[in-house]
Amino acid sequence: MSAIPQSDAREWRAAYTRYTTGAILLHWAIALLILANIAGGLVMTSGLVAEDYSFGMYQWHKTIGLLVLALTVARILWRIANPPPAHAPTMTRGETLAASAVHIAFYALMLAVPLLGWLVVSASAAQVPTYLFMIDALPWPSLPIREAVSETTRESLEAVFEFSHKWLALAFLGLLALHIAGAVKHALVDRLPSLSRMTHGGGLARQPSRPAAPFIAAAGFVAVLAAGLLIGQAKTANQAATSPDVSASGEPAQAQAGNWIVDREASRLGFTVSFSGKSLTGTISAWSADVTFSPDALEDANAIVTVQTGSIAVEDSFVGPQVQGADGLKSDEFPQARLVLSDFSGGAAAGSYLAKGTLTLRGETLPIEVPFTFEEVEDGTAMVKGRAEIDRTAYGIGLSNDPGGSYLGKSVAVSFDLKARPSGT
Ligand code: HEM
Repeated sequence: MSAIPQSDAREWRAAYTRYTTGAILLHWAIALLILANIAGGLVMTSGLVAEDYSFGMYQWHKTIGLLVLALTVARILWRIANPPPAHAPTMTRGETLAASAVHIAFYALMLAVPLLGWLVVSASAAQVPTYLFMIDALPWPSLPIREAVSETTRESLEAVFEFSHKWLALAFLGLLALHIAGAVKHALVDRLPSLSRMTHGGGLARQPSRPAAPFIAAAGFVAVLAAGLLIGQAKTANQAATSPDVSASGEPAQAQAGNWIVDREASRLGFTVSFSGKSLTGTISAWSADVTFSPDALEDANAIVTVQTGSIAVEDSFVGPQVQGADGLKSDEFPQARLVLSDFSGGAAAGSYLAKGTLTLRGETLPIEVPFTFEEVEDGTAMVKGRAEIDRTAYGIGLSNDPGGSYLGKSVAVSFDLKARPSGT
């Protein structure tokens, strides 16, 4: 198509309007967020992101994608309230059809890609919760897929959703190329305003917009986010109400046998694990210890520590909800963990020792070494401190979420700081 005569172009330009301000704002906001999420999505799945940032990138990707979904609903409502200005008069029927097809395909992808992302998260074996803007008070629900289908179907669905999410996201780039080619053709070949219709430049008259349109579009945006957040809040409240009362599952506070009575009030058993660039501290509140130990008779020393796995907790909104679950400790099936130490030897420094034995956790019994210090203070009380590293993956923990330890450390450092008095005192 050749350039239109300048006299005609002047006439058409006068009748030519730019998009409404709302349409322009929504167009550029959505375009920027989509481009950011395509770039972010490719980078976060590339394996090149440092461990400390990878988890956070996924979380921001989800938030940006959900914002695109809500803004797209707003954009569609805006468009219904304010139909877009007419196509350029120079366009052939074929060109207008092609332009309309590209626009419809954009809307389809703007809805489909975020929805597929949401489906990926919902069907994933990793049950990482979604919080908008990573704010704990803004939980976004997963769709009920895992609960509804068998494990084989879940795996197939996850693969299909992942594949479609990725390739439809990349299809945005193909559409963008066509979209830009159309705009460049209007500007250079037809010599008609093109980019200026979607900006405030070019001196074009503004298409009038309906006064109610901002309210309708805002209502659409808010409705999408509010619906998700309300369901998310209800699900979180429901989970809290149905999770077992760990305080009730406690064992007696003191040792039952052995030559020491551990004062649990004055003792602490816990652990740390690295997660997304920070160190998380976990607590173990229900446990009991049965200890026989004397520095002069290491050959007779032994210790059995029993932990109620339901009492193990981590104060973190992402990791916390999964501690007891299928990819965590599976507390329903394995309510107790048991540490049995029977091989004690002296360490290099005075008061330091090494105990060897086994740890049974989540149905696995594996060897463990526990270095510790033992100090008897004046009133006969003993202070015992130690720390042991365990590999969570060896016990099958977190294998669905993060088997390689890319954001949840593989090594968990269990530490104890105990105060005990001799039994019979
Ligand atoms: C405008 C919206 C979105 C765009 C353009 C987008 C784009 C992308 C891209 C390009 C990838 C990389 C795919 C790959 O290379 O494997 C990706 C991955 C991913 N996206 Fe999105 N995304 C959007 C919205 C969402 C939403 C709303 C969610 C979830 C609520 C989400 C969850 C994910 C997840 C979990 C992955 C990783 C999948 C995997 O491990 O292969 N995305 N996204």
